[in-house]
Amino acid sequence: MASAKDILVLGIETSCDDTAAAIVRRGADGAPEILANFVWTDHDDHQAYGGVVPEIAARSHVERIDITIEKALAEAMLGLDDLDAVAATAGPGLLGGVMVGLTTGKAISLARNLPFLPINHLEGHALSARMIERVDFPYLLLLISGGHTQLIDVLGLGQYHRLGTTIDDAAGEAFDKTAKLLDLGQPGGPLIETAAKNGRADRFKFPLPLAKRDGCDFSFSGMKTAVREAAEAIENPTRQDVDDIAASFQFAAARHLRVQTEKAMEQCDYTDASPRLVVAGGVAANSAIKQSLTAACKERGWRMIAPPPKFCTDNGAMIAWAGAEHFAAAGAPDQDEVLAMAPRARWPLAPPIEGREIGHGKKGPKA
Ligand code: KG4
Ligand code: ZN
Repeated sequence: MASAKDILVLGIETSCDDTAAAIVRRGADGAPEILANFVWTDHDDHQAYGGVVPEIAARSHVERIDITIEKALAEAMLGLDDLDAVAATAGPGLLGGVMVGLTTGKAISLARNLPFLPINHLEGHALSARMIERVDFPYLLLLISGGHTQLIDVLGLGQYHRLGTTIDDAAGEAFDKTAKLLDLGQPGGPLIETAAKNGRADRFKFPLPLAKRDGCDFSFSGMKTAVREAAEAIENPTRQDVDDIAASFQFAAARHLRVQTEKAMEQCDYTDASPRLVVAGGVAANSAIKQSLTAACKERGWRMIAPPPKFCTDNGAMIAWAGAEHFAAAGAPDQDEVLAMAPRARWPLAPPIEGREIGHGKKGPKA
């Protein structure tokens, strides 16, 4: 059942440390419009602990979720009764946090008699580029976030085929751990990027993992060890030393992401004149990584698409949009079933690669 009318969806996201709500419209012709996007970030609350503390995150979500939704509605100048559906992240993520958003979404849906749409957080990232501009299926997705690093062949809505995955840490986790090691603070990604701007990327030579092996999996643990050894070898590191390590690490991470993505591009037998690579997830906010992937695309006649940074990191708009896409394609899901749905700590987007156990050793907040 394809929708012939505009759809207005409230999206709620609470799977990690951001409390987020947004209102998105999907036009009858499929055109996206983001009417409000409010993200309440509490990085400071976790700073002293060097990473996201699940209990602190869950409590913050409880305190902030109502006002976050009110702010999104006010920004869109809409009331709950103007909506066509409510979408909320149902996983994967930190259970306490997911529970807050999921329960709130279900409560609004019951109180206002609105269809409820439980959304996989990873699908939110996977479809986020389509919320910004016209991106037709199929496309190759490089999903790089704090808990996941995957290459996925996106064949259509709900049709995801995994080509590669990390065998240890996620890309964002590697940025966060490097930042912690260098005493830069959290979340590490943006702080490494800033430090790297003043650093020399060619000072330290960090390894290029899995390049000579078949397949397009990722590994960041060897790089992490090499970074630690380089940092520990300097007795009293200066600001310049820190910036150089940050720049050399970022260079190595970008090169690894590029080389494995290039292998996946070779596996995709897209027939379009201009095949598409979509990069999504928090790490896709990184300019050096985007530049490196853009160069890879240019060499092969591919188009590189990355949402603006605020839609790469966690946000409610991508959850609303994923809900709107499903609602437009298939209408409301069985409400008895979705209202009974429990939050999921793990919820793979695509089936594991045949014959291989995946995801071992993952330790990120979304692992
Ligand atoms: O998608 P996201 O907001 O949350 C998860 O679903 O995990 O991604 C968060 C991750 C963090 O590890 C953060 O350090 C990283 O994205 N990140 C970046 C940048 N901005 C955020 N990594 C590298 N460069 C950035 N500019
Ligand atoms: Zn995310």
